[in-house]
Amino acid sequence: MTTAPKKGSPQDRTPSRFTRNEIERRVAALGKWFHNLDLCGVKTAPDHFLGDYPTVKWRRFAHALPASLEGKTVLDIGCSSGFYPIEMKRRGARRVVAMEPDEDYLAQARFAAEVCEQEIEFTKLSVYNVKQLNERFDLVIFMGVLYHLRYPLLALDLIRRHVAKDLLLFQSMLRGCDSAVELKSDYPFTETDIFENPGIPRLHFVQHCYAGDPTNWWIPNRACVEAMLQSAGFDIIDHPEEEVYLCRCAATSS
Ligand SMILES: C[S@@+](CC[C@H](N)C(=O)[O-])C[C@H]1O[C@@H](n2cnc3c(N)ncnc32)[C@H](O)[C@@H]1O
Repeated sequence: MTTAPKKGSPQDRTPSRFTRNEIERRVAALGKWFHNLDLCGVKTAPDHFLGDYPTVKWRRFAHALPASLEGKTVLDIGCSSGFYPIEMKRRGARRVVAMEPDEDYLAQARFAAEVCEQEIEFTKLSVYNVKQLNERFDLVIFMGVLYHLRYPLLALDLIRRHVAKDLLLFQSMLRGCDSAVELKSDYPFTETDIFENPGIPRLHFVQHCYAGDPTNWWIPNRACVEAMLQSAGFDIIDHPEEEVYLCRCAATSS
C-alpha cells in the first residue's frame, strides 16, 4: 500500500490542478512508459529493465551540458515519454520542441509536461522529416534513436543539414570493440587484414530482432559511431559517458 505524502512535505509537489489519484490513473491509462518519470511522487516505469531510467544515465553526463540554457532553443528528436525535454526546460531553455513518431509516447510526454508545468512544443514527426521544422536549434538531442533506424547515416545527415546550429547531444547503444584503431586515409585493394581488426568501424546489422526488439536495425561499435558523427559533419567535443557524445557542428567549407 502506498501512503500519500504529508501535505507540505518535500514529497508533496502535486500541483493543485492534478490530484495524486488523477496522476496515477492517467499514468496507468497511458500504457507502458519507456521513461521512469517522477510525476509528483508517481513513478511512471518503476520496474524499468535498466533501473531508474533515464535518471541514472542522465546523472552520469548531465554535467557536460551548459548548466543554464537560458535563451537557447532545443530540439529533442525521438523524445519518448519526455524526460529530456522536461530537463532542458528545467535548465531554462527558452524554447523546447520535442518530436516523436509514436502517438502513445507522445501522449505520455504531453501529460508529463503538463504535470511538471513545463511548456514544451510537441510534434508527431520522424527524424527523416526534420526539414519540415524549417528551423535550426542551439541544441539538438538525438539520444537512443540511431540504432532504431533503417537509414542511420541519412538521419545524421538530415539533422546536420536542416536543424543543427551548434550542439548535438548524441547517444547510441554500442556493441563490439570499445577501442578505435587509428586508420590511414586509404588502403590498397589488396589490403584485407585491416578488416580482421575488431577496432575498425563496424555497424552490426540486425536482420530480425535484438533484445526482443525488432526495431533495432544497426548497432555500431565505438569506432563506427565516432566515424559516422564526424562523417555527418559533427566534431566530437566531449564523451562524458560510454554511450554519450557531445558534438559541435563542424565548420563547413563553402
Ligand atoms: C530507445 S528510445 C529513446 C528515447 C529517448 N530519446 C532517450 O534517450 O531516452 C527510442 C525512441 O526513438 C523513437 N524513434 C524511432 N524511430 C524514430 C524516427 N524515425 N524518428 C524519430 N524518433 C524515432 C522511438 O519511438 C522511441 O521513442
